[in-house]
Amino acid sequence: MPKLIQATAAPLIPPSPTLKTLHEAAVQCRACDLWKLGTQTVFGEGSRHSRVMMVGEQPGDKEDLAGRPFVGPAGAVLDKALAAAGIDRKDVYVTNIVKHFKWEPRGKRRIHKKPNAAQITACRPWLDAEIRVVQPEVVILLGATAAQGVLGRDFRVTQHRGEWVQSSIATYVMATVHPSSILRAPDDESRHEEMRKFIDDLKKVAAQIRSNRKAA
Ligand code: URA
Ligand code: SF4
Repeated sequence: MPKLIQATAAPLIPPSPTLKTLHEAAVQCRACDLWKLGTQTVFGEGSRHSRVMMVGEQPGDKEDLAGRPFVGPAGAVLDKALAAAGIDRKDVYVTNIVKHFKWEPRGKRRIHKKPNAAQITACRPWLDAEIRVVQPEVVILLGATAAQGVLGRDFRVTQHRGEWVQSSIATYVMATVHPSSILRAPDDESRHEEMRKFIDDLKKVAAQIRSNRKAA
């Protein structure tokens, strides 16, 4: 039996990449079938000097159209929580584990659909390259897709959110909920409670980067 070879973006990663050359290469990516579905590649965004990297699942409807990550409703929640936690948005590089929008039609709307394992594997070299270039002190994995993609299928955000976990990708790695899950809370009270817990997780990040800065 011939072995099935999993296509990934690995051959597209330029030598000695910068964020600019990576972004330019990712625009051309066809390593999985999602390039046909999304409007464009939505690459990560932020300074290469960012101390914190936030990794989401995939661009949403607004991000797909804008070509920029976290510019829609989930991004607004993220910005608000970062500000409340005292993290300077300029210190944060935002990206996704999958860089094309996967969706299905429902009436006139495009409804987000979770990427599958093959798509996550195909797209992973882009994230790994972003991490190598930025070398963030802290990586925050937002939601189960990003957390399990990096930490393994057995990882449970519900059990280990807000904890520092061991990973080769950075010295400090934490998983927490996805900001869009806060928007899906059933009522105002639970939404406020979820937001408070999310901000608490980000406050741990703020404290860690402050103490790293002092030690440096
Ligand atoms: N949700 C994500 O996971 N990423 C985005 O960029 C926007 C919404
Ligand atoms: Fe390439 Fe990722 Fe887009 Fe798939 S989702 S085509 S791997 S950039």
